[in-house]
Amino acid sequence: MAEIICIIGNKGGTGKTTLSHMLCQGLGLLGHRSACVLTDTSREPLTPEGRRYITADARTREALTKVVDKLRTLENWVGVIDGGGNRTEMDRKLYALSDIVLLPFRESHEDIRTVLRDLEMFPRAYAVPSQWPANAWQREAADRNVAQLMGAYRHRILKPVGALSSSKLLLQRQVPDQLPTPLANACRALARQVLHVLEIDAGEGGDFVEEDEDEAVHIPPAEMPLRLSQPARR
Ligand SMILES: Nc1ncnc2c1ncn2[C@@H]1O[C@H](COP(=O)(O)OP(=O)(O)O)[C@@H](O)[C@H]1O
Ligand SMILES: [Mg+2]
Repeated sequence: MAEIICIIGNKGGTGKTTLSHMLCQGLGLLGHRSACVLTDTSREPLTPEGRRYITADARTREALTKVVDKLRTLENWVGVIDGGGNRTEMDRKLYALSDIVLLPFRESHEDIRTVLRDLEMFPRAYAVPSQWPANAWQREAADRNVAQLMGAYRHRILKPVGALSSSKLLLQRQVPDQLPTPLANACRALARQVLHVLEIDAGEGGDFVEEDEDEAVHIPPAEMPLRLSQPARR
């Protein structure tokens, strides 16, 4: 049976759609089969050409049921559902059918307040710092805010996904043949974390982005012992 991950959160613009494609691409690059499932009625479906994953259109209730039923029959697949946002009812429904949930949030206090509420509401959810600043000074400030305001949930916070303008490429109808290396690395790093949470072996390519990963860990472990620097804990 496929693992099902939902990317939700009652907030627009946090990076749900981008993150769902980055995760699927990363899973594909690590040799795992995945499907990116669209539920947002305001977005157009994207073609699978050039991607390391398939795309599925589940913008109606019936289509969603069908896609999820299909995924459940597939062994060793990961289904990633892009929740769309601003739909509390839908979020609850998606939460109920998923194994884990990802909650992207940006560095603003408003985003942090929202994600704290969502973390409390959804016990199987992990927060993902999204569009995290590349500038060292801003990044430190953002990390400090997270450490201060989200300390109680530190074991449910993944490593940040940095702000990468090339992430837009994955949201294009058709992606270029070759994605920029920083984007591919970010996709792999995200996928590796999620596989770890799901307790799935990262498998091939499991250890070749070490330098990149060092960069991705901004928060000093003493301040913010991110879940992934700890033994697996569900
Ligand atoms: N990691 C990132 N780096 C840079 N820009 C990003 C990143 N993630 C999202 N964005 C941008 O932020 C905006 C909102 O992202 P999107 O994925 O559509 O969020 P949501 O689906 O939560 O509304 C888009 O313009 C997108 O290109
Ligand atoms: Mg979206």
